[in-house]
Amino acid sequence: MKALFEVLRPDQKDWALAEAIDPNRLPAHIAVIMDGNGRWAKRRNLPRVAGHKAGVEPVRVTVETCARLGIRALTLYAFSVENWKRPRAEVDTLWRLLRIYLRRELPNLRRNDIRLAAIGRVQALPAQAREELEAAVQATSLNRGLQVNLAINYGGRNEVVDAVNAVLDEARRKGRLDSLIVDDDAIASHLYTAGLPDPDLLIRTSGEMRISNFLLWQIAYAELYVTDTLWPDFTRTELLRAILDYQKRDRRFGGLSPAGGSPSRESHFVGVGATAR
Ligand code: FPP
Repeated sequence: MKALFEVLRPDQKDWALAEAIDPNRLPAHIAVIMDGNGRWAKRRNLPRVAGHKAGVEPVRVTVETCARLGIRALTLYAFSVENWKRPRAEVDTLWRLLRIYLRRELPNLRRNDIRLAAIGRVQALPAQAREELEAAVQATSLNRGLQVNLAINYGGRNEVVDAVNAVLDEARRKGRLDSLIVDDDAIASHLYTAGLPDPDLLIRTSGEMRISNFLLWQIAYAELYVTDTLWPDFTRTELLRAILDYQKRDRRFGGLSPAGGSPSRESHFVGVGATAR
């Protein structure tokens, strides 16, 4: 968390919020449904794509703040499998913005030890966007700080289907199909997020009370934080507030709170979610 105070001043409200955060109880993994770009633009009589353009800066701020806080993983829902239904011009703008973001931010990601990963069926992306995304993923693959997962052409049901097929393929290759027993661990270790802890905190902007096919398996016990703020207006302040709110929750994981503290995920889900630290 020390790195966050380097960019704050004691007279700023973010300083007080950061001071109130318990560094020992940070969420290991934060997931964000970035919603409301279209409404943000509409309220300003602007075309929808103006909302997406304005949505790039909060992506940058969220990544930087999570890195400075020492969060292990951040997963951002950038494009769902259903988003192809949008007008062609809007979809093309999203690919263009992705490329602009990657070009502009890659040096920062490298400098700050941030690892970029893409989750979703990225093979279906237009060639230029796919190639630049793969190059950025490759260029940061040895980084060991924050892992940023961009969920692109992502669907939670697809992810589970892909995981089951991967389990079956592996068993077939090893000649173990007849004796295969599929358990939680087998699925979790073949998800796009294998090796990462499940999200502790899921943030959704724009007030919608929906999951929208996002990380269906992994959010089983995530704490939800829904804000009316539209994504282009999402700030560091709001992210810090979401983390503070998360730290007030009583996480029981289906059990009971022991006196003096809430049970940890690890104590109830040994082997599930492949917690890597
Ligand atoms: C949802 O708002 C947002 C998206 C489908 C796209 C998210 C894209 C960005 C934040 C821009 C850049 C991203 C990266 C990773 C560089 P919506 O259009 O559904 O809003 P609405 O519900 O108000 O219509």
